[in-house]
Amino acid sequence: MLSKQGSDGGKRTSLHGHWSSRMAFILAVTGSAVGLGNIWKFPYIAGQNGGGAFVLVYLLCVVLIGMPVMMSEILIGRRGRRNPIATMELLGKEEGSSGNWKWVGGIGVVAGIFILSYYSVVAGWVLAYVPKSMSGVFAGATSEQVSAIFENFTGSWWQVGLAHTVFMGLTIFVVARGVERGLEQAVRFMVPALLFLMLVLLGYSINSGSFGEGVEFLFTPKWEDLTWGSVLAALGQAFFTLSIGMGAVMAYGAYLPEETSITGASGAVVIADTIIAILAGLVIFPLVFANGLSPGEGAGLVFETLPLAFGGMAGGVVFSSVFFVLLAFAAWTSALGLVEPAVAWLVEHHNRTRAQAAVMIGGLIWFVGLGSVLSFNVLSELRFLVRVDTDGDGVKDAYGTIFNNVDFLTSNIMLPLGGLLITVFAGWVMCRNSTADELGGAGTTYRIWRVLARFLAPLGILIVLINAVMS
Ligand code: PFF
Repeated sequence: MLSKQGSDGGKRTSLHGHWSSRMAFILAVTGSAVGLGNIWKFPYIAGQNGGGAFVLVYLLCVVLIGMPVMMSEILIGRRGRRNPIATMELLGKEEGSSGNWKWVGGIGVVAGIFILSYYSVVAGWVLAYVPKSMSGVFAGATSEQVSAIFENFTGSWWQVGLAHTVFMGLTIFVVARGVERGLEQAVRFMVPALLFLMLVLLGYSINSGSFGEGVEFLFTPKWEDLTWGSVLAALGQAFFTLSIGMGAVMAYGAYLPEETSITGASGAVVIADTIIAILAGLVIFPLVFANGLSPGEGAGLVFETLPLAFGGMAGGVVFSSVFFVLLAFAAWTSALGLVEPAVAWLVEHHNRTRAQAAVMIGGLIWFVGLGSVLSFNVLSELRFLVRVDTDGDGVKDAYGTIFNNVDFLTSNIMLPLGGLLITVFAGWVMCRNSTADELGGAGTTYRIWRVLARFLAPLGILIVLINAVMS
């Protein structure tokens, strides 16, 4: 995947070599983007924020803010060709500003650690659903039975803890051995296979009898229900799903050959990621309505709807097992992106071997993740700070658990803040020649990017953040 023969025309080269092809880069970034964010989080957050209006704001955020932020991250990464902290420091000085821009890389490292701490817990649920599916417990099960299986499982601290431990173990193993190559190859079949199974599920949900209701929920905006809180949730979800705002894409951009089009590659990733999220919504909501469930169910939403669908279809045991294996792979390739900035930083700044760094960072994340493990059982009553809707009626009626708080603070605050600083850096601090050079000259696309990166994206993020925090 990474070859040492990047053609750089006398420019900086990365210590770690370059992607062998444009496709290898797109696969790696797609592997990081497509994950639990698309299939687990998007439907659950959309459901809790009233559907239609949220989805439209989310799509606007992806196109008008996500896309220029992703392009900025890649171009910064490719120009600096180091880990995100070192790259921001180097370019900050080189562009005549300050080395303190390294703190933007620092926010990213911390965000990655916290996101993976709860991401791994949900990925553990996915792992646990593989043997459950294979055992046939979902075959012909009723909605009450499927919900009870989910609640019994998450209510058991040791089962959730064990699954979280296994997932972190898998992540540490791959990061330590540096065998991303194998996983990149997995992305090549994983994304199409996931797409295929989503289409099978879509066929089922179209026949569920409530397809129209699901589509209406997803696409008919009820603007009166839109609050600044849900606009912030849409913005946070756009960042989360595209893996931007924390330097993961910047790190991948460091290995990108000069001749690859950053705009083209970003566009491909954004389109693939968005299609999978929308498909997930089209599958889940009809099932929610057909089975009398509530769209605002929360984090368990896909774990209570998808097994029902699989349980009711011919060959469901096989489809369901394969689906959860694929989803676990998708989570795995995303976890690598989350941990990479922290590991690269320990290796480069503290002279650790990759294996030591992976165990240290992975161990820390595992420990922080215990807070999220216990949020569904022992510490489910420990609630503070963020407000959540606990009964799915659209009213935020209680404080959130540790899990809810870590999720909210990372996705909705840290990632948009990181994205804001990254676009301000690319749009205002870097000179026009540097950015035009990376984006293939000062044509129309460049001009559109520059307007979005200088004005619309930073202002948009700022307005949403301020209003949501004030309200
Ligand atoms: N984009 C991933 C998902 O949608 O599941 C989550 C993620 C991965 C966020 C990597 C950030 C990141 F660096």
